[in-house]
Amino acid sequence: MNFPYQIKSLEEYHSVYKKSEEDPEGFWGEIASNFHWKKKWEKVLDWNFIEPHVRWFLGGKLNITENCIDRHLQELGEKPAFIWEPNHPEDRVRIVTYNRLHKRVCQVAQMLKNNGMKKGDRVCIYMGMVPELVYAVLGCARIGAVHSVIFGGFSAQSIADRLYDAQAEYIITCDGAYRGGKDIPLKGVIDDALIGNRTIKRVIVYTRTRTPVSMLKGRDVWWEDEMDFAETQVEKDGVVSFPAEETDAEDPLFILYTSGSTGKPKGVVHTCGGYMVWTNYTFVNAFQYKTGQIHFCTADIGWITGHSYIVYGPLSAGATSVMFEGVPTWPDAGRFWEIVDKHKVNILYTAPTAIRSLMGFGLDPLNGKDLSSLQVLGTVGEPINEEAWHWYDEHVGKRRCPIIDTWWQTETGGILISNLAGITPARPSWATLPMPGVHPVLVDENGKEVTEKDTHGLYKGNLCIKYPWPSIIRTTYGDHERCRTNYFATYPNLYFTGDGALKDDEGNFRITGRVDDVLNVSGHRIGTAEVENAINMHAGVVESAVVGYPHEIKGQGIYAYIIYTGHQNDPDLNRKNILQTVSRVIGPIAKPDKIQFVSGLPKTRSGKIMRRILRKIAEGETQNLGDTSTLLDPGIVEEIRKGRL
Ligand code: WT7
Repeated sequence: MNFPYQIKSLEEYHSVYKKSEEDPEGFWGEIASNFHWKKKWEKVLDWNFIEPHVRWFLGGKLNITENCIDRHLQELGEKPAFIWEPNHPEDRVRIVTYNRLHKRVCQVAQMLKNNGMKKGDRVCIYMGMVPELVYAVLGCARIGAVHSVIFGGFSAQSIADRLYDAQAEYIITCDGAYRGGKDIPLKGVIDDALIGNRTIKRVIVYTRTRTPVSMLKGRDVWWEDEMDFAETQVEKDGVVSFPAEETDAEDPLFILYTSGSTGKPKGVVHTCGGYMVWTNYTFVNAFQYKTGQIHFCTADIGWITGHSYIVYGPLSAGATSVMFEGVPTWPDAGRFWEIVDKHKVNILYTAPTAIRSLMGFGLDPLNGKDLSSLQVLGTVGEPINEEAWHWYDEHVGKRRCPIIDTWWQTETGGILISNLAGITPARPSWATLPMPGVHPVLVDENGKEVTEKDTHGLYKGNLCIKYPWPSIIRTTYGDHERCRTNYFATYPNLYFTGDGALKDDEGNFRITGRVDDVLNVSGHRIGTAEVENAINMHAGVVESAVVGYPHEIKGQGIYAYIIYTGHQNDPDLNRKNILQTVSRVIGPIAKPDKIQFVSGLPKTRSGKIMRRILRKIAEGETQNLGDTSTLLDPGIVEEIRKGRL
């Protein structure tokens, strides 16, 4: 494919950015005309950030799978859409061409229809990283059903909460998943989530691990059987077809749950038209994708990174992706490098936490691996420290490859701030410049734009965006008010990201991390309130407070202060028991790294926990705890400080 909207120079970036500012609707209308629409939009944009109400490409009709598959078939039909690398390095690689992808997606769409699914229905997908996961996601999109992928690390309870919130009636899962040396019993977890459930009508189970599973008559069916039957329906005389449902540009494409600073995870809703345009535009521009290149995004499709830069962005651009089932450190820490060598990867997109963890294994795992195919490197998910940036640059990119530091969020759908590989300058630990159409501003606590520089000559404030881009969050599923209060109420007329940032005179941004009570642990987002709620469910726990602390590999670790009045004789066992409860309630990813038992928490007279103090102690700062005079019981601080782990 050729991409007339691919920016080719720094000068062009500046002129394109200017154009996007002066005439956003003209600008996005022109870009959107590069896609296949069943019916053209009538109006490009309608918005206010008060309700909020954001609609892009109003009246436009499309099906995103036609843009991701059908329109490529003539030119790229026999080119690989995916090269699937299995968990076990000795297992067979699977190559999925665009023709094959088309056939499988048509089959899935037919299978979903046969099982009663239709446009608008919510389908929960809980699978490992197998090609069938992509077929399932796109099969939903083909019939206009709304997919909600849940990461394999979440517990039965978390799944049950999400099923209920999304009012889902259908599930697609696997018997199990391989992740490194572990087999994860996905169907077993689904069965636990469904105890007492009366709303789920169908569970489709794909066989991956041959783990024994229970199959309930009338509810559970095998993927293989259903797909075989669907094949007889979609293929006639060697021609495969399944009509792509017409969806409105603003029909929901998917729901993806993500944590916030309060309560249960919220269902971020993205829509068909704007999300398609944005993921494609940012994929083509940030990575500077050229047809024929091999793109390897190491994320899991259970997170937004996988949705946008394994599935929709690359496929809409006719790209070839490596899809990896395993983990970076199994069977050894050379796994990524072996994959790059084996499949001649050109673009590698991974998380700082993975880089830091691989750094810890030294250079041995890189020895003998030919990384000369690499042309572009990317990072996402958390701030990258300079040490990790330089290691990535030197030992992976061999100083030949531009590194892009891409800042974005589940709610933004795609990359908002990033350098463009080889086009705009990179700067270690800086996300640098906004994408065209993105207008970031830094504000102080009162929402006033920061105009004074700090002592380092930088502007410092809370990061907000003042104009909509096509894939901005539309709502939080079933609760629009929550969307408003979370993102649009803190500062009037601005989308608030929850991040703090620095800006220089040239307009480059450096993201410094969350300013709310959200943690970023190994690139996974976890709310402290969510972890506290889980801990508090444990018998004997009176109260808890959870904060983050700097962790060498994970970026942030989870530190929990707990008042526990249960059996006192074996604190170590008590800790383990509490971890079990957190695993049950949320999942293993939310387990605290440190648990300190305390007799009280530092509270103000009005009963508010002073997290600032707890954060400082967890960070190892034990001297300057700031003003503690407003505390109800200042003595407790001394006890906590002494007991620090
Ligand atoms: C939060 C969003 C974006 C997909 C993966 C995470 C942090 C993300 C960067 C970056 C510094 C970053 C922010 C953001 N973050 N990318 N390049 N530099 N911080 O998605 O789970 O929605 O988390 O991740 O704090 O708010 P998410």
